[in-house]
Amino acid sequence: MAKYPKVNYIGNKEKLVNWIIDEMPVKEGVVLDIFAGGCSVSYALKEAGYSVISNDILYADYVIAKALIENNNKTLPLSVFNKKYENTRVKELEAKFAFLSDSLYYPEEVKELSKLVAISEKLNGAEKYMMLSLIRRAMIRKLPYSRMNVPWDQIQKLRDEDYSYKKYKRKRAYHNQTFESHMRENIDAYNNAVFEGKQCKVYNCDAFEMVKKIESVDVVYMDPPYPSTMNNYDAFYGLYDKMFDKKKEHVDYTKKVSFLENIERLIKMLTGKTKYIVLSQNTRVKPEPNEIKMMLSQFGKVIVKEKEHNYQVTGKDNKKSSKELLFILEMEEK
Ligand SMILES: C[S@@+](CC[C@H](N)C(=O)[O-])C[C@H]1O[C@@H](n2cnc3c(N)ncnc32)[C@H](O)[C@@H]1O
Repeated sequence: MAKYPKVNYIGNKEKLVNWIIDEMPVKEGVVLDIFAGGCSVSYALKEAGYSVISNDILYADYVIAKALIENNNKTLPLSVFNKKYENTRVKELEAKFAFLSDSLYYPEEVKELSKLVAISEKLNGAEKYMMLSLIRRAMIRKLPYSRMNVPWDQIQKLRDEDYSYKKYKRKRAYHNQTFESHMRENIDAYNNAVFEGKQCKVYNCDAFEMVKKIESVDVVYMDPPYPSTMNNYDAFYGLYDKMFDKKKEHVDYTKKVSFLENIERLIKMLTGKTKYIVLSQNTRVKPEPNEIKMMLSQFGKVIVKEKEHNYQVTGKDNKKSSKELLFILEMEEK
């Protein structure tokens, strides 16, 4: 059985996907996951037999979608690590990735990363994206707190295994493993995650641009980066995009003052293009559920579903409880 692999995506819905799928207002058809992130929902939708359109502004997420959502059958052989590459290209990449040196990783690690990217350039189609997804996962796994915006002095401290053990009773040796060893550990899981589903398509654009590209879908699923939460996805993963010259400008959903306005504009643009909109929210974040419901009600009938949800507080061991919400909007016919 295919299984969603370890992606380590901040704010992912991995633990909630069964509930989200159960609450989908149609049981078949085309679903656009417009803020797809680590693709946990896209993947569950594909498994449930929907035709999925997966979109995110980050290239770091696009490579996952290409590998696991659009890809129906291509796996990556272990021999990929023996593939020939040109040393001159590795040198070029090393110079290009200099911004990562003594900032996210040690210089010799940037060299290793350059070699792996040089190999990825020798691959085509889905195989290339499988490789790039594994590189992404390895990069994240090597970073304390699994994100790219931790200051270098703190990274170095947390990667000191003795310090980590003294302070947190955990050595976290995986931060000091090579990229390749992480990729080798995960290659089977990524290969096993590949399965044939209905036709799926993948995009890497701003949500507004995405809406312009579609004519008609059955459901648009929205899991935007809400204000007042861990939401700085550009900072969490954007350096990966920078490595591949894929950084893009986009509408910002993380500001309290403009969040509702932006979502409202997005929904207005979707009028006539979808029968349903399903919006995820959590009671920990703003705006208040009532405000969201009122805004959505202008466009049709809204039902709100609730589920108790325990979440981990980053960097700590305690768990807190909150309610996970799904707003299901049945769009009024135009
Ligand atoms: C809460 S996360 C989605 C998590 C996802 N549901 C999962 O399970 O992994 C929100 C996503 O919105 C993306 N995003 C932010 N602004 C965007 C924009 N203007 N257009 C498209 N995607 C955007 C971020 O890159 C991030 O991946």
